[in-house]
Amino acid sequence: MQQILIDTDPGVDDAYAILLAMLSHEFHVPAITTVCGNVPVDQATQNLLTILGLLDLDEFPMIAQGEAAPLIKPLVTAAHVHGDDGLGNTSHLQNANGSPLYPPANTTLSSMTGTELILEMAAQYPDELIIVALGPLTNLATAIRKDPAKMRRLRKIIIMGGVFEEYGNVTTTAEFNIFVDPHAAHEVFQFGVPVHIAPLDATHQVVLTGERLRTETENQEDRVSRFLWDATQACMEFYREHVGFWGFHIHDALPIAMLTHPDYFESVNAYVQVETAGDLTNGMTIADLRPERQRSDPNAQVCLKVAAEAFLNAFFERLHAP
Ligand code: RIB
Ligand code: CA
Repeated sequence: MQQILIDTDPGVDDAYAILLAMLSHEFHVPAITTVCGNVPVDQATQNLLTILGLLDLDEFPMIAQGEAAPLIKPLVTAAHVHGDDGLGNTSHLQNANGSPLYPPANTTLSSMTGTELILEMAAQYPDELIIVALGPLTNLATAIRKDPAKMRRLRKIIIMGGVFEEYGNVTTTAEFNIFVDPHAAHEVFQFGVPVHIAPLDATHQVVLTGERLRTETENQEDRVSRFLWDATQACMEFYREHVGFWGFHIHDALPIAMLTHPDYFESVNAYVQVETAGDLTNGMTIADLRPERQRSDPNAQVCLKVAAEAFLNAFFERLHAP
């Protein structure tokens, strides 16, 4: 059974990813760590507990809070996309009696830091653990700095991040997760553990329209469906105004689906570098993807093609599975 540690900055699309992971049977999730990104890390941790509180879990993953700031740059968040609380402002929704509509899971945080829990899991599952990183790579880089020998035993790292043949979503050239902490991304890409990247080039192929989300969730009775409909409203309004359609890109669900439905994804080998010093290009991911320019020492696989409709169908089938 594959062992997966999820590192996340929830984040509405992180919620889609975490729910897909916890509803999937292809792997076990022994641990989830939070990191600063879409929201400050303490809010990310609260949001993770809210997301897990939607599920009837027999066993909770270990949860630990990670780094509160990037390695060098000041933190940049994305509340303008994900809402002030990072989950579409669903934290303010209440039942008729005034209790929270989406209360947190009844579980406790580990006494370990996120970095310590990552290293603990790497030691517990040597050559087996896969880390799926859905936010800035600060926790992973910190763990590598603290104990590179343990981190070398990771089977692989799958990330949502970067952009190669399109524009960025934070600046013209940079995607959010890499832009927030380009120094961490550089250290992870150069470390030597295989990295599988789901960049914007792939995640933008999956267009979740408001109409599709309404069809799949609005009239459903289950908490997960109601939450996804409620939590995605803020993102879809942002998209309506700034991206050009009423809907959302569920970026972070793709790295999880690479584990549940690998056949839906096509990737190429690449040597990926990160701009850490540039002004206009800070956080840019750079790789020459031309087949004739392939290097003999790729450090990553970059996903460039997704069976988008098949992926969306599989996502909602799993969401609605009894
Ligand atoms: O660029 C998209 C990524 O940045 C996603 O992981 C989203 O949650 C934000 O963290
Ligand atoms: Ca994220």
